[in-house]
Amino acid sequence: MKVRRDAPPMRLSPCLLFLLVFDAGAADSSACAGCHAGIWRQWRDTPMARSSGVAGEARIETFGKAAFSNARGTAQYSVSPKFTLRFAQAGVEGERALNYFLGAGNTGRSYLTSVDGFFFQAPVAYYRARAAWDLSPGYERAEEVNLARETGPGCLRCHVTGLRPVEGASNGFSAPPWRENGVGCERCHGGGEDHIRGNQSAIVNPAKLTGEARDSVCAQCHLPGAVEIAKAGNAPPYVPGARLSDSVAIFVLAGEDREANINGHFEQLSRSLCMRSSGGKLWCGTCHRVHATTSAKEKPAFYRQQCLACHAEKPCTAATSVRAAKGDDCVACHMTQRASETVQHAAVTDHRIPRLPRAPSRAAVNASLTPFGGEQADDRELGLAYASVALQENNRAWGLRAFELLRKESAANPRDAKVASSLAQLYDRMNRDEDACRLYETAVGLDPNAAAAKVNLAACRAKQGKVDEALALWSEVLKLNPSMETARLNYAVALFRTGRKNEAKASLNEALRFNPASRRARELLAGLQ
Ligand code: HEC
Ligand code: HEC
Ligand code: HEC
Ligand code: HEC
Ligand code: HEC
Ligand code: HEC
Ligand code: HEC
Repeated sequence: MKVRRDAPPMRLSPCLLFLLVFDAGAADSSACAGCHAGIWRQWRDTPMARSSGVAGEARIETFGKAAFSNARGTAQYSVSPKFTLRFAQAGVEGERALNYFLGAGNTGRSYLTSVDGFFFQAPVAYYRARAAWDLSPGYERAEEVNLARETGPGCLRCHVTGLRPVEGASNGFSAPPWRENGVGCERCHGGGEDHIRGNQSAIVNPAKLTGEARDSVCAQCHLPGAVEIAKAGNAPPYVPGARLSDSVAIFVLAGEDREANINGHFEQLSRSLCMRSSGGKLWCGTCHRVHATTSAKEKPAFYRQQCLACHAEKPCTAATSVRAAKGDDCVACHMTQRASETVQHAAVTDHRIPRLPRAPSRAAVNASLTPFGGEQADDRELGLAYASVALQENNRAWGLRAFELLRKESAANPRDAKVASSLAQLYDRMNRDEDACRLYETAVGLDPNAAAAKVNLAACRAKQGKVDEALALWSEVLKLNPSMETARLNYAVALFRTGRKNEAKASLNEALRFNPASRRARELLAGLQ
């Protein structure tokens, strides 16, 4: 697929969506409405169905508190009712349209901006409880207005249906970037074309699946884990009905304190005595009706009914009078909620279903990675997983573990691009340039789309004095990833050093088009002038 460089910032228009409803051979949820009207109408109102869309549509936002600044007051922001973000920082002012939202808004919403079809997470978010706009999680302490936090499939995959990424680009998408807002029918039921044509059995009903295949339907989005590693070779992407572990290995953190680190609904539920003792009967769908919304008033009775399906015979041992005081609301005592004001992905409701409310414990320090649900992971997956968390968290112990595993793996399988690239990054951290550069070269040779490895290989070449080779590599990466700032700035500096001043300037201006307040780009540009 080609990226149109001259395309205006796009918006997902309803008519475009309609035209593309059947592209990629999948059916839009409205195609199910004709025969399942009742389910479709209820589903439309659920948070999952409303989990993404065009900013300004499906409004929950108010604009009474829409001007704010960062912690030290060095960057100012405001958002207008037309969803235009204005920013000012050290003499630089500008504005950018917020194009899309992520999140139905139970706790809040994040926003995406796009330039030429390349997507970024906006530095601002809307917080429901405070009815206020403020900095996004992770930006609170940022000194600089950063409009270039790249947003790719890794972020969007759980919030939309029919994502349309541009091959090889880390944050580029076709127009429109996805077929359908929110979690559509096909995300849980699989493709429905044959079913629509009259083959009633050609559709997945999650409730008729068992074990991992059933749990995978929800786990594809509700089990983020600590790190996820795609299976080697030509593992098929996950589709409902299959087992998630055939496509990816999901690792969670297990510490000495077994209660630590459990954040997500899946991890918590798997620790509950209910799940461990129910012989595979208890799953997400036991308590959650995903097509429908249950009102706050109906919830206590609704959930009690689910509990009593298993607990009617051996009832609660708390005194009846105590329970009566709580309206015999099982969940009020056994699945308590902790406050969450921020937009985040941790469970709010305690899915460990304990006898007595328990405070969530803090993360253990030297936690180790284990595959979720007792699955087996091979050394390649474990090595890649440790490398990923080690590089993110700058953790030496994990880095050593990764190094040991990946070095063996790389010797046994020298043609594995991911292994080569991860091991190269570990060597990089150890300042072993020669080994790092050799492996970056291997990775790029095996996978020409390996952007990160290519950027680093270019840096190797520049250091080795092979500037023309470096320039060629950076330029290749920038074609598919024009907003990659580090590559762009390095490219500009190298151009300047080889006497190509005007091209260097153009490259820096291009960086500023994506990220107008970039201090490094501005400083370099000032240096050229
Ligand atoms: C032409 C009519 C028609 C359309 C369109 C249609 N269905 Fe169905 N569907 C049926 C009929 C008939 C049944 C069987 C009776 C029932 O359960 O209502 C069924 C059953 C199902 C079942 C239960 C299957 C089982 O084994 O328990 C699911 C799930 C389902 N449909 C999902 C969908 C989804 C998702 C779409 C859109 C992609 C869709 N249907 C579109 C007619 C249709
Ligand atoms: C394609 C990804 C995806 C799949 C598949 C998925 N979910 Fe969700 N789910 C989400 C997202 C995203 C949200 C957050 C919605 C929001 O508030 O924006 C969510 C929210 C929820 C919520 C809280 C909101 C509510 O409705 O009360 C529940 C409960 C839930 N999901 C249950 C399930 C269950 C059960 C399954 C499996 C049958 C499932 N989900 C499958 C992505 C998914
Ligand atoms: C692995 C799947 C997954 C990924 C990836 C993911 N989310 Fe979510 N997101 C969820 C689920 C599930 C929820 C529902 C709440 C929960 O589970 O805590 C949610 C909730 C949210 C909410 C709050 C919604 C509300 O109604 O309050 C926002 C905002 C959000 N996500 C933004 C993002 C952004 C931005 C990214 C990318 C940087 C992202 N999410 C990546 C699954 C995902
Ligand atoms: C988040 C996951 C999810 C989404 C999205 C979803 N479903 Fe379902 N669907 C389920 C689950 C789980 C069941 C099984 C419910 C049960 O019987 O416990 C189910 C059951 C069904 C059934 C058969 C049983 C019944 O309740 O009649 C039909 C038909 C169906 N879904 C249609 C749809 C249609 C149409 C859409 C989109 C408008 C849709 N579903 C969206 C998860 C989902
Ligand atoms: C699918 C069946 C099932 C469902 C549904 C279920 N449980 Fe359980 N639960 C069990 C089993 C089995 C045990 C093990 C003890 C026993 O045999 O009673 C258990 C144990 C418990 C315990 C004791 C926990 C401990 O650590 O000592 C509590 C409390 C509990 N359940 C509460 C609930 C509540 C509240 C609900 C509803 C929100 C619920 N359960 C739903 C099957 C279930
Ligand atoms: C024993 C019943 C039960 C089971 C099983 C269960 N949940 Fe829940 N869940 C609840 C209750 C109760 C709430 C809080 C009330 C509400 O939001 O409706 C909740 C809330 C949620 C929410 C909203 C955010 C939060 O933490 O409050 C999400 C998302 C969710 N559950 C996902 C899941 C997933 C995924 C599974 C399967 C791994 C699952 N649940 C299994 C009872 C259950
Ligand atoms: C007022 C709070 C409260 C309410 C409401 C409540 N429980 Fe409990 N429950 C407790 C406490 C406290 C214990 C532990 C008592 C003890 O140690 O004997 C307990 C124990 C249990 C146990 C463990 C029993 C065993 O054999 O060890 C189960 C199962 C249980 N509750 C289920 C339920 C269910 C189902 C409901 C709703 C019908 C419910 N509870 C309502 C507070 C409550």
